[in-house]
Amino acid sequence: MTDDVLVTVDDIKVHFPIKRGVLLDRTVGHVYAVDGVSLQVRRGETYGLVGESGCGKTTLGRALLRLVEPTGGSVVFDGTDVSTLKGEDLRRMRRRMQMVFQDPMSSLDPRQSVESLLVEGMRAHGLDKGKQATHQRLKELLAAVGLPESALRKYPHEFSGGQRQRIGIARALAVEPDLIVADEPVSALDVSVQAQVLNLLEELQDEFGLTYLVVAHDLAVVRHISDRIGVMYLGSLVEEAGSDELYERPMHPYTKALLSAIPVPDPEVEDTREQILLTGDLPSPANPPSGCRFHTRCPWRQPARCDTERPPLREVGSGHRVACHYAEEILAGTITPHEVEPELAQS
Ligand SMILES: Nc1ncnc2c1ncn2[C@@H]1O[C@H](COP(=O)(O)OP(=O)(O)OP(=O)(O)O)[C@@H](O)[C@H]1O
Ligand code: SF4
Ligand SMILES: [Mg+2]
Repeated sequence: MTDDVLVTVDDIKVHFPIKRGVLLDRTVGHVYAVDGVSLQVRRGETYGLVGESGCGKTTLGRALLRLVEPTGGSVVFDGTDVSTLKGEDLRRMRRRMQMVFQDPMSSLDPRQSVESLLVEGMRAHGLDKGKQATHQRLKELLAAVGLPESALRKYPHEFSGGQRQRIGIARALAVEPDLIVADEPVSALDVSVQAQVLNLLEELQDEFGLTYLVVAHDLAVVRHISDRIGVMYLGSLVEEAGSDELYERPMHPYTKALLSAIPVPDPEVEDTREQILLTGDLPSPANPPSGCRFHTRCPWRQPARCDTERPPLREVGSGHRVACHYAEEILAGTITPHEVEPELAQS
């Protein structure tokens, strides 16, 4: 591990048992929510994690913070294997990794004033050092997220969605974390407010030297704030690259499809650009397709290997990894997309 890496996730798996029977005592299968993801997050960077609903983004974020117990694999945070920590050691480590949630209304207790919401975490981690020092700290926190001091006495329902998300961010900052996992931090907000909150996150990153893992289902949201981006499909990473590289040279068919769904403002480009429409539903993570998990929907699918052999995430260029048997041929144009028969799109 090099010094500039803050988090190393190695082959992490989260399989939720599917229980049946009157006493829910029989396990009849598993939801393979996260199924073998390896990635690293470097100090001070923003790693964007994208993919369709249900592909396992939230579960991966939670497993990283050990808010859900991984079925396998490890998470090493700043040199310490988090997967083996217990009790007080785990609690202390948790201070350094905070989560910001999608819906601030449901993640903030409506009966608690902003002051009490912010002090709670500080107190739990011994950062509440006397009335005056704490009040000073609260003022700084609010100023950092662009809220007035008067916000302290108010309750979550008295704020707009964007302001509530600022409170959620202040609450995460209150315990001086190194890493913030932001799970769809702007998807519940109006488009006009989204950019403000994303800008705030960027400012705070510079000010406090934070490292971010930002989860979103929309590539457009993570593009500008991410240094690197990982694309997930059905519990696995299918592609990872620097943000600009991913947009300019997407190699995995799924990434190409996601990118082609983002409208381009220039009407001429919009009319001529390649649009890849994915047919077929997202298969169930309880019964993922054999071989390449994307083969039921892939317009480039080949008769050999695609439905039998699971493609590993492999390095195809500096810092660019892709999990597709035919990535080079697709890039070179030697194999071309074709119609996907609907009957292939079974789960
Ligand atoms: N506690 C749980 N028990 C059983 N299954 C779960 C649990 N949490 C998540 N799942 C399932 O795991 C899969 C991945 O869910 P997850 O919430 O991680 O996806 P996501 O990518 O965050 O989706 P979204 O974009 O909708 O938030 C889904 O099929 C979901 O139903
Ligand atoms: S391995 Fe085959 S099915 Fe999977 S993405 Fe590549 S071409 Fe498509
Ligand atoms: Mg989610």
